[in-house]
Amino acid sequence: MEKQFIIGNWKSHKTVAQTEEWFADIALELHEIGQDTDKTIILCPPFPLLPLCKTLIGKNHLPIHLGSQDISPFGEGAYTGAVAGTLLRNFVEYCIIGHSERRKYFAETEEILAQKVIQAKAHGIEPLYCVPDKDARIPHGVNIVAFEPIASIGSGHPDTPEDAEAVARFIKEKNGVSYVIYGGSVTDKNVHEFTQQTNVNGVLPGGASLSSKDFAGIIHNA
Ligand code: PGA
Repeated sequence: MEKQFIIGNWKSHKTVAQTEEWFADIALELHEIGQDTDKTIILCPPFPLLPLCKTLIGKNHLPIHLGSQDISPFGEGAYTGAVAGTLLRNFVEYCIIGHSERRKYFAETEEILAQKVIQAKAHGIEPLYCVPDKDARIPHGVNIVAFEPIASIGSGHPDTPEDAEAVARFIKEKNGVSYVIYGGSVTDKNVHEFTQQTNVNGVLPGGASLSSKDFAGIIHNA
């Protein structure tokens, strides 16, 4: 089987106390599951939780990599509220770019997203580039794409595994990217239907990553 990415996106959720609790639980859950080197586990918490998550991963020797949910389209400088790659690279190996919630609520355009990809790559951060459909433009340098149909995000109505497979194959053939992940209402119950598809290289759960038990179930069943 090909490499699988399991990417948790906490979105705008969790406090410091809830983060500590999640890590205490996931440490036990992962210990039970055991290490599986074919699965790359990535957690994308809100920015202020990144240092704490990094500390807790180190302390518990967890096989979890960190990603951010966004990156500034600019370098370091006078850009109030933006988090630059120069800072992020101290904490993350990956970065979600172009999530449909960023496109919708923060008016992110293709140009801005392409700038973000440039910034991520310039700082050695691997973009996890989200697209809503098979025809979306994918900037040069992207190697991991997350296909997330808008109607399936947070709705409890996932895409069919067959459609996800067809889109993943199409995106790889058209853009030459190495990995395509599926995201949208993934649970521990349906995850395997997606990961068993030839061209689907993992999943990106949002809601189900908030519970350490559900997230561990997804990792186990993937
Ligand atoms: P969901 O979110 O798993 O809650 O549907 C997925 C996402 O938006 O990345």
